[in-house]
Amino acid sequence: MLDFKRVEKTLRPILFYGNNPLSLLGGALTSASAFVLIGFWVVSIFGHGGSTNPYLGLIFDIFLPGLFILGLILIPIGMGLRRRSLIARGEVPAAYPQIDLQNPVFRRGIEVVVVATFVNFVIVGTASYRAVAYMDSPHFCGQSCHVMAPQWSAYQESPHSHVDCVECHVGSGFDSYVEAKVNGTKQMVEVTFHTWPAPIRANLNALRPARETCEECHSPTRFSGEKLLVKTTFGDDEKNSLTRTVLVLHLGGVDSVSHLSGIHGHHLNHFEYVATDNTLQTIISVSAPNPDGTTAQYVSSDWKGPIQGVRRTMDCIDCHNQATHVFQTAADAIDEAMVSGTPSPSLPFVHKEGLQLIQATYTSQAEAGQKIVAGLDDFYRSQYPQVWSGQRAQVDAAANKLVSLYDRNVFPNMKVTWGTYPNNIGHMAYPGCFRCHDGSHTTKSGKTLSNDCSLCHNLLAVDETNPGVLNDLGLQNELHLQ
Ligand code: HEC
Ligand code: HEC
Ligand code: HEC
Ligand code: HEC
Ligand code: HEC
Repeated sequence: MLDFKRVEKTLRPILFYGNNPLSLLGGALTSASAFVLIGFWVVSIFGHGGSTNPYLGLIFDIFLPGLFILGLILIPIGMGLRRRSLIARGEVPAAYPQIDLQNPVFRRGIEVVVVATFVNFVIVGTASYRAVAYMDSPHFCGQSCHVMAPQWSAYQESPHSHVDCVECHVGSGFDSYVEAKVNGTKQMVEVTFHTWPAPIRANLNALRPARETCEECHSPTRFSGEKLLVKTTFGDDEKNSLTRTVLVLHLGGVDSVSHLSGIHGHHLNHFEYVATDNTLQTIISVSAPNPDGTTAQYVSSDWKGPIQGVRRTMDCIDCHNQATHVFQTAADAIDEAMVSGTPSPSLPFVHKEGLQLIQATYTSQAEAGQKIVAGLDDFYRSQYPQVWSGQRAQVDAAANKLVSLYDRNVFPNMKVTWGTYPNNIGHMAYPGCFRCHDGSHTTKSGKTLSNDCSLCHNLLAVDETNPGVLNDLGLQNELHLQ
């Protein structure tokens, strides 16, 4: 049992100084938030608290624990202030008022305080664990803050929608954790005062190195061989004529005798490059080690100035910058949607009209939603009344799909539109591979980084209606090929 004599001695000054409005308020805040928190945790244990609403997390994992701790802090502050003012006025009593231990109510009270202190430790522990876990969850990173809406939207549709944001964005170790939170706090301030930079851009050098992220799940020594790629596009004519491009990419890799080949095989060998812009789209120089230990430096013949700018050693992210945040081009977005059947290719001119509607400028997603739906409806009502009345459901479905393509890629409030975030994987819509392989990056000795079309792929068919190669493979009827 408790040694009441000693406890009483210790408690005397605490009770004496604690009797002030600030400490009492602190006690009230702490106990009130504790009750709510414990209630919520009990409910979550039984499986009913698992809502994915990010605001619930903000309240239960950040705000209430914050109140709880604020209350705990207010108690000693109130006591300190009362003590200071009593000392200043010379009113500190010679002996603190005695506590009547014979009084059973009081004894029970002391027991409650001891138990409560213990419970408080448990709460602080649990709450901090939950706060850390919550702040690391994709829901917190992606949803509690609307400036992340573009990245959240692109993330959800990516092959990595089950990889936590922090896996790639926060390095391992305590330092990186603190750095990320300091950065996050800066961003919260920016959001509060509406001073965030729009559009938000990543600093690739600040991301976790690919070795610790991508390569935890994908082994670069395992990729090998050729990859068949089929791209389906629809025309701007009345029939939305379908054509296909078929190519075989020389993905390569590292073979069983450690021989490097193809696209994957080459670039992971300490290639250092220099770019003149933060989006790394203009690369003026790249250095690659030669087999004899010397280094070959390829410099763009368009560049006459000194070689300086953002320096980076190439890794997965330099090509796969959009492995997670996949922003489509408007043309890809509508083609991919039509391959899946909506907008239906049976609607005359739907490719041309749809593309125009999603590429027009709107001030907000809400405005786009209204104008895209109205625009497509107008078009069919005025130009194709029979389609408008006969294929009404398809027209409506097409309009809704167009709106969702827009909402997934364009965020006027964040100044994110088609093409804001370049994709480095190819070379059609953005410079991509041609940032270096443009045929103008040359060494002093005259060796040029090749842009020969067969270096990276064999083009088996380009925009053909019915590519023979697909017939040979028995794939000609597979509309769902990408
Ligand atoms: C598999 C790794 C990975 C995951 C998981 C991931 N990101 Fe990213 N993120 C990246 C890479 C790589 C870039 C750089 C993109 C670029 O430079 O084009 C990036 C860029 C960003 C940017 C800067 C804008 C941009 O596109 O350049 C923001 C903001 C962002 N991510 C937020 C998030 C949020 C929020 C989540 C979780 C919902 C998340 N990320 C999950 C890899 C990841
Ligand atoms: C936690 C594990 C994990 C991490 C980390 C991870 N990936 Fe993946 N990645 C996967 C899985 C699983 C798939 C397959 C998903 C599927 O098939 O739907 C995938 C798919 C891919 C694909 C194929 C996409 C496609 O459309 O076919 C690419 C490219 C890729 N990852 C690149 C990266 C890069 C680059 C990084 C680092 C920025 C990375 N991954 C980090 C697990 C991971
Ligand atoms: C020089 C650019 C480049 C670099 C660097 C690079 N990749 Fe790739 N990777 C590609 C291209 C191009 C493709 C094929 C693109 C496509 O499928 O559309 C590809 C495809 C992939 C795929 C899908 C393979 C499949 O069979 O569908 C994965 C997974 C992948 N890369 C992971 C990685 C990882 C992990 C790294 C870093 C260790 C990496 N890549 C580095 C260019 C690159
Ligand atoms: C930052 C510059 C840079 C970028 C971007 C880049 N490469 Fe390269 N690439 C190089 C260098 C440097 C070499 C090596 C030349 C050498 O070995 O001397 C190379 C080599 C290659 C090779 C091997 C050529 C051979 O001789 O066998 C292929 C294939 C290739 N790259 C494909 C790609 C593809 C595909 C992309 C885009 C997804 C890409 N590269 C993006 C710099 C780059
Ligand atoms: C340095 C490597 C490289 C070189 C050189 C190169 N390509 Fe490509 N090309 C790619 C990659 C990688 C893709 C696949 C992009 C993707 O995954 O969507 C591609 C895709 C394509 C596509 C289909 C993409 C689409 O969106 O329709 C065409 C067509 C194409 N290339 C034509 C050419 C032609 C023509 C040349 C020669 C002038 C050439 N390429 C040279 C790397 C290269």
